[in-house]
Amino acid sequence: MSEIKNLINITDLSVQEIDHLIEIADDIIEHPEQYWDACAHKKLATLFFEPSTRTRLSFTAAMMELGGNVLGFDQAASSSTAKGESVADTIVMASCYADIIAMRHPKEGAPYVGAQYASVPVINAGDGGHFHPTQTLTDLMTIHRKKGKLGGFTIGLCGDLKFGRTVHSLIDALLRYDDIRYVMVSPEELELPDYIKETLNKAGVEWKEVRSLDEAIPELDILYMTRVQKERFFNEEDYIRLKDSFILSRKMLAPAKEDLSILHPLPRVNEIAKDVDDDPRACYFYQALMGKYIRMALILYLLGMK
Ligand code: NCD
Repeated sequence: MSEIKNLINITDLSVQEIDHLIEIADDIIEHPEQYWDACAHKKLATLFFEPSTRTRLSFTAAMMELGGNVLGFDQAASSSTAKGESVADTIVMASCYADIIAMRHPKEGAPYVGAQYASVPVINAGDGGHFHPTQTLTDLMTIHRKKGKLGGFTIGLCGDLKFGRTVHSLIDALLRYDDIRYVMVSPEELELPDYIKETLNKAGVEWKEVRSLDEAIPELDILYMTRVQKERFFNEEDYIRLKDSFILSRKMLAPAKEDLSILHPLPRVNEIAKDVDDDPRACYFYQALMGKYIRMALILYLLGMK
């Protein structure tokens, strides 16, 4: 029996595999009709123990556009978790009913544990403040479509760099590409965790920390904004004090490069003002669309169909 391939951390995929997924996603965008029946009679289980809009809906849309079906739950309260069932048992059940599983959980490592019990591929759709590899694939796909390359740029990562799992996974991925400079923009309390700073230092890349978004903007080719992760705070006062640390407005973009790409995994709260949405440099809704295509590619790949 061939080994089951899971996606728990973005580094589970080699750079070549990521290139392959991007190639498939490009082809899906070009020839969607060729994929309409690709997953006929296949089922995706979406096990979401934590809230989600884009990730769950884009997984669902992805499987539907491949001609497959989707089953699952969107909150722990509506599953047997509420009765005390373990993640392991829930995953064994889902493996009985589905060909592939996408799982989101508030506990770091839960999808990894789940994958030990599953008899079908497991995709981590976000685990606590840890990783979010399919958001990273979405981000890479967006950068590829907008910049035509995955390297040779300066990227600013702004907001909650401590708890933001999308930032953690994106850095893990980008460290494998060449000629990237990193500008980390956060309040002191929401700086990158030390273990990620150490990884950056070990990799020998050029990176710095700044406290002002205005100061960072002119040198950026990509600006990756993030939400302050309310649900990961231990007390509400800290959240209230930090939540509006950075608010990107149209006015602030005056000194920015003309070909800057503004990304955000979404949902946004206050960190990007509405008046940025009409700026041609705003890519975040396009990014959400790319999330569907790259997840279609991922499903096909993990099912061994591409
Ligand atoms: C992100 C997440 O869940 O980590 N959302 C997403 O999946 N697009 C970002 C966030 O919630 O801030």
